[in-house]
Amino acid sequence: MVQLTDYVEFEGIKVYYTKELDGGGAAFGQDYIDFIRRNFPPQERIFEWCSGPGFIGFSLLAHGLCKTLCLADINPLAIQACSKTVRLNSLESKVTLYLSDNLKKIPSSEKWSLVVGNPPHFSRVCTKKRSPEIIFLDKDWALHRRFYKDVGKYLEQDGTLLIQENSLRSSVESFREMIELNGLSIVDTPICKLDPRYYYIRAVRSE
Ligand SMILES: C[S@@+](CC[C@H](N)C(=O)[O-])C[C@H]1O[C@@H](n2cnc3c(N)ncnc32)[C@H](O)[C@@H]1O
Repeated sequence: MVQLTDYVEFEGIKVYYTKELDGGGAAFGQDYIDFIRRNFPPQERIFEWCSGPGFIGFSLLAHGLCKTLCLADINPLAIQACSKTVRLNSLESKVTLYLSDNLKKIPSSEKWSLVVGNPPHFSRVCTKKRSPEIIFLDKDWALHRRFYKDVGKYLEQDGTLLIQENSLRSSVESFREMIELNGLSIVDTPICKLDPRYYYIRAVRSE
C-alpha cells in the first residue's frame, strides 16, 4: 500500500502525490494559473485530462478560477491520490474523479466549459527517459487521437480546450489533423511562460 504522504499546497489546498505520479504539473503546469486568469472569466466546470494527482486542476480550483472540477486518469494510484486530496480538503461537493482509460468511463452527462491537461508528450519510446512510460509515452499519438475524437461531446457549446504540449517532442502540426477532423479549430498556440519548452494548443468548436 502506497502511503501518499507527500503533498504540495496551492492556496490552502494540499495536493497529495508520489514522485512516480509527477509529470510536471506542479512545475510548468502551474503556468495555467496565470494564463487562465489573464485569458478567461471564472469557469463553471473544468476537466483535467490525464490528471495524475491533479496538480493543475486542484490549483485552478484553489485559485478560484473554476466553480467545480472533474479529473480523470488511467492510473489507479493517481486517482487514489486525488481521492485523498478531496477527502482531506473536504472537496466532495466540488470535485468528481474518474478512473478511466482516456474518456472511456466518463458519462455523457459530464459537460465542461474548459478542458486542460498535461498528457504524455512523447510519441515514441525514449531510452533516456527515467520516468515510467505511462507518464511520457503516447505511442503514435493514439491517446491524443482518441481524445480529440471524443472530447467534443463533453464540451459546452462555447467551451475551450487548452492542452499543454512539449515543443521538443511535437508541434501543432502533430495534432492539427486530429483536431480539425473532429469539428474543432485551433485558435492559437501560446508559449508557456514558466518554461518555454512547453506550449498550449487552444481549440474551440469550429461550428
Ligand atoms: C505527463 S503525466 C501528467 C501527470 C499530471 N497531470 C501532471 O501534470 O503532473 C501524463 C498522465 O497521463 C496519464 N495517462 C497515460 N495514459 C493514459 C490513458 N490512456 N488514459 C488516461 N490517462 C492516461 C498518466 O497516468 C499520467 O498521469
